[in-house]
Amino acid sequence: MNIESTLPSIERSTALLERCEAVIPARTQTLAKGPGQYVRGVSPVFAQRGKGAHLWDVDGNRYLDYTMAVGPLVLGYGHDAVNDAIRAQLADGITFSLMHPLEVEVAEQIQSMVPGIEMVRYSKTGCDVTTAAVRLARAYTGRSTVLCCGYHGWHDWYIGTTDRSLGIPQAVKDLTYTFTYNDIESVRQSIDSDTAAIILEPMVVDEPHETFLHELRELCTQHGIVLIFDEMWTGFRIARGGAQERFGVQADLVCYSKAIANGMPLSVLAGKADIMRLLDKDVFFFTTFGGEALSLAAAKATMHVIATESVLATIEQRGDHLRDQIQSLIADIGIDWLSIKGLGSRTMLAIARPLDEALLVKSFIHQELLRHGILWNGFHNLSLAHTENDIADTLEAYDDVLPRLFDLVSAGRLAEHIKGVPMEPVFRRTGNFNTKPRQGATA
Ligand SMILES: Cc1ncc(COP(=O)(O)O)c(C=O)c1O
Repeated sequence: MNIESTLPSIERSTALLERCEAVIPARTQTLAKGPGQYVRGVSPVFAQRGKGAHLWDVDGNRYLDYTMAVGPLVLGYGHDAVNDAIRAQLADGITFSLMHPLEVEVAEQIQSMVPGIEMVRYSKTGCDVTTAAVRLARAYTGRSTVLCCGYHGWHDWYIGTTDRSLGIPQAVKDLTYTFTYNDIESVRQSIDSDTAAIILEPMVVDEPHETFLHELRELCTQHGIVLIFDEMWTGFRIARGGAQERFGVQADLVCYSKAIANGMPLSVLAGKADIMRLLDKDVFFFTTFGGEALSLAAAKATMHVIATESVLATIEQRGDHLRDQIQSLIADIGIDWLSIKGLGSRTMLAIARPLDEALLVKSFIHQELLRHGILWNGFHNLSLAHTENDIADTLEAYDDVLPRLFDLVSAGRLAEHIKGVPMEPVFRRTGNFNTKPRQGATA
């Protein structure tokens, strides 16, 4: 690999960002890929194209990409089978005045890949389906409150639990509680007679404790609560049947998006027929583009590749190697505040420093990896297109960056080596941000 000592030139990105700031509030449509998630003035901001595991920015620089569109690109950019499927469908049409056969075919395909799926509906974004799942749970149980853990999208019922809740009525905020991952007691304490649903990401980067998901399942069954797995990240990534298959636990409703269509906008609500059947009439969940055929064609092709080739095992094996080698590099240098977590398909550098300093550390790693032609902002979201050579190049880059990081932190000189505006915190909480006392409990 040609290691560039200079940072990429980003004139076109910078000029576009200036125009963007005048016309687009918050600058980005997707927080996790916006300019705040990269070192401002150093990092590219706008992408031109992608192929395989590589992204080209608008200035013509090429990067090995570890963000991969924040999750969807499990097969890599522009996978041939997916592109062919989209092209073939495009020749026939995108969206029609009648339903399309792909709606049925893809539903049957999901049924065959994921254990226990009885019925399937589609929409466009992750929060469409988490919100539909919550509405269904309320309808099914006749109860109102929701317990959640993880990130579930921008809609009122969830975002009201966070510090970005301006515009959401208090009455709505009062209906969602949070609990702590891997802490079954925090769930038990929050359940009451009005709990309709427990929704969680079954895994982010920490694996579930041996009994956690099973106990959650039991609690839900015992109390008549609908268990919803938000599998935006785990679906079609950590196993063909997602977290349900990997951890051997069956939810009542499951939500997918991201990897299922390798970059096309599709989300899926799936689960048990007795709950899903409420969508026949009583619960309203319809949208203009729900049956849009390009995304369904992409999903069909993506799932076919995942089902028939050794995709997920290959990704995990390469990612495990990357994780283990980075961990041993960290240990060799002796950085006791840095570690790497997660299953191989998605790993994260965990920085155990106060927030301001952690952001400087993250910014330095991001900036210095750019010099090696690597685009990284915290996670390694692997795809089938990340080759063993790519992993070897990445390890070579870390071998250059981490010792320098350690020396600068030890010398208290890290800040002066960040060449732009440091990264902003990621908006994501999986802990007890708004845990509330049990209804009727005394303070
Ligand atoms: C676990 C999880 N749930 C829900 C969502 C919301 O999905 P969307 O942004 O497509 O609405 C996301 C988005 O990143 C997510 O990671």
